[in-house]
Amino acid sequence: MRLGAGLLLAAIRGFANSWARANAHAAAPCSGLFCCLHMTNEAIPKLTAFDDAALDKAFAALEDEARSDASALDVEAFRLKWVGRKQGLLNEVSDRWLKAAPGAAKKSVGQRFKVLKELVETLIENASGAGPSDAALKAEAIDITLPGTRRLIGAEHPITRTMNEIVAVFAALGYSVGVGPEVETDYYNFECMNFPPGHPARDTQDTLVVAGQERRPLRDRLLLRTHTSPVQMRTMEQQPPPVRIVIPGKVHRNDAADATHSPIFHQVEGLCVDRNITFSDLKGTLDHAMKALFGSAVKTRFFPSFFPFTEPSADVQISCIFCGGKGCRKCKQSGWIELLGCGMVDPAVFGFAAEKQPAYDAKQISGFAFGMGVERIAMMKYGISEIGQFFAGDMRFLGQFV
Ligand code: PHE
Repeated sequence: MRLGAGLLLAAIRGFANSWARANAHAAAPCSGLFCCLHMTNEAIPKLTAFDDAALDKAFAALEDEARSDASALDVEAFRLKWVGRKQGLLNEVSDRWLKAAPGAAKKSVGQRFKVLKELVETLIENASGAGPSDAALKAEAIDITLPGTRRLIGAEHPITRTMNEIVAVFAALGYSVGVGPEVETDYYNFECMNFPPGHPARDTQDTLVVAGQERRPLRDRLLLRTHTSPVQMRTMEQQPPPVRIVIPGKVHRNDAADATHSPIFHQVEGLCVDRNITFSDLKGTLDHAMKALFGSAVKTRFFPSFFPFTEPSADVQISCIFCGGKGCRKCKQSGWIELLGCGMVDPAVFGFAAEKQPAYDAKQISGFAFGMGVERIAMMKYGISEIGQFFAGDMRFLGQFV
């Protein structure tokens, strides 16, 4: 329904015209504003016949009029015209047709009047409940064929993914997974791992320490762990042997950043303790793990090395995955790439564990441990040459791993 004085008048004129057509007894056809207003006052002429046919015709004309008004007029204008207290057409019909009807016709006029009244009420009800106009809806409409704002889907960081892959290889061998604190005490990071205070091995790991702890005993001083090996001890203190555990985690060293060094990086530690664990168990386990990670064509070899917490210790090299061992720039023409450190758990380490768990008796049990750098493995697997890419937060780089 639309409102407007002009429209209202036009509608009234329309009614008058159609009424004139429908009822030969009506006044002369409308011829202008004055006429229309005049017509409104006398819009409902007296009925001369009260038979069914005459009533049907008269009421049908009014119903048609109400329907066309409903689509042409604003609700208020419609209400005014049809149910207005003074000149509302329903009142007129009631006065001129219903009240004036002869006794015998009262019932049939009354029934038809009731139907008309209900129609008018329904039309008002529908129009009042109707929402905004078509034009308003169109103006507000959203073009659902336009592509929306794309929300980026989260994905595993390549380091997390590589860490999970390494962990999965060992999980399949029956290893459980553990974690430990990144802020560690001197005791767990060094002392119980058989680096005595002042031991020169401590110099090999430039350590980031928490400031202002000079008054604390050395063993309680806090530092950012330089390796995941302290979690070996934390695990053994919590449970007697046998132990098979892998520990992924973040570590820190006060290293200057370059293409292959970052002060923050990640390791996966491994520890296996039981009766009769031998160096060949260590070799077989790591050979299997390297083949699972890099492909079954990969070979491993073990070189003597030194770590304070393993004896004997070894560095593990794998045949170069880029040249297949022939020698290339990546393996510095050697055909081999060094990938991780490992060894048999030093009896001194079991000695520290036995302070809380006496079952770590080096005469009864043995074990091996290993630790590998996650970034180095990820760089090899994905052909990345700058370690800094992992931490730069550049979506062009990270998006390649989605
Ligand atoms: N913790 C050693 C490092 O960070 C790696 C390692 C772990 C070596 C376990 C042997 C056994 O270099």
